[in-house]
Amino acid sequence: METINNKLFLGGISVEELTEKYSSPLYVYEEDKIIGQYNKLKNAIIYPKTRIYYAAKANTNIEILKVLNKEGCGIDAVSPEEIYISKKAGFDSSNILFTGNNASEEDFKYCIENDVLVNIGSLEQIELYGKLNPNSKISIRINPDVGAGHHDHCITGGPNSKFGVYFDKIDKIKEVIEKYNLTVVGIHEHIGSGILDTSKFLLAMDVLLKVAKSFDNLEFIDFGGGIGVPYRPGEKQLDIEEFGKAISDKFNDFCSSYGKELYLCLEPGRYIVAEAGFLLAKVVNKKSTPNHVFVGINTGFNHLIRPAMYGSYHHVLNASNMDTREEEKLVVAGNVCESGDVFTQNEDGIEDRMMPKTKVGDVLAICNAGAYGFSMASNYNSRRLPAEVIVSKGEAKIIRERQSLEDLL
Ligand SMILES: Cc1ncc(COP(=O)(O)O)c(C=O)c1O
Repeated sequence: METINNKLFLGGISVEELTEKYSSPLYVYEEDKIIGQYNKLKNAIIYPKTRIYYAAKANTNIEILKVLNKEGCGIDAVSPEEIYISKKAGFDSSNILFTGNNASEEDFKYCIENDVLVNIGSLEQIELYGKLNPNSKISIRINPDVGAGHHDHCITGGPNSKFGVYFDKIDKIKEVIEKYNLTVVGIHEHIGSGILDTSKFLLAMDVLLKVAKSFDNLEFIDFGGGIGVPYRPGEKQLDIEEFGKAISDKFNDFCSSYGKELYLCLEPGRYIVAEAGFLLAKVVNKKSTPNHVFVGINTGFNHLIRPAMYGSYHHVLNASNMDTREEEKLVVAGNVCESGDVFTQNEDGIEDRMMPKTKVGDVLAICNAGAYGFSMASNYNSRRLPAEVIVSKGEAKIIRERQSLEDLL
């Protein structure tokens, strides 16, 4: 992302040119940023036997998966559909881990047929899997009694979370795995999403490493994803080198006492793709109420639900006018029929933002839309899903066409 003559450019291409060519609303991803984030994380983890499974749910566009496959990444899949797309993108089954939640018999059968290792988060579900595939290898998701995340909905550890087998149920796990002769080759946790303070991550890691000592045949330990990125300008970034060193040191110590060098696995989604993505939309309306000046754009929470769902802050740029010398207070609203359909939100709801002078016809860029943007989009109000484009070094490639009207039937 760069600014040239007060206009926003992505991957070396003017945003206005992109929306003219591909129409709007439009999702745009900077390929170099995706590759850069992946490698930044990979290089930060000094422990040599590391595997990064990209959490495909953050963005399942097949071309993005192909980019990550080329880099040597694996896949964290949560549905048979994500396994299907990942395999189409070229991932080998051995590089895919299925972490289903409330998985059905049909889900497990799909994994078995596709030779994909399953990571199971409940005793009942281990039992179900054991019946379907006795004498096989499994991984177990543990709830370490610790959770963290940017919003209650995204905290996936601790007593209020539906995920994982509680860390103190080891004896019960052993009973079930013995019954079906299952070999536990991995243990896993994922405590939440959007973590910028790593203290809870490290605490949960200690719990999981303690649990790991009870299993003799481990090949890997997976500490999940959740690594946050800054959404607000000036927000402190997580020090990825410090984080990589801290987890490497802990893991090294563990492996020495375990007597075997296991794989250290992570499952980042947001960290890899969030900052690479932008939702571009055109200003189609501007109006005032006694409280706010609204600019209305040609997209809504059907295309990016995070502000409406979590009160998530997304920075909004006026790609047509980046000149901050003359600013006005604005609320950026979408075109869906609900008052909550506002992009300028924070945890307390709608907020006025200082933005450069904005007029009908300008193109706005909603930042950090690469993770949980398109992948959480819907056809609510029967609006079509936007096209997706990937940009790099002055070249743009369409990676998903805008839906047609026929697609809605
Ligand atoms: C099991 C699991 N792993 C990894 C992730 C990725 O989280 P994030 O995108 O915050 O890294 C999630 C997110 O929900 C998850 O449920």
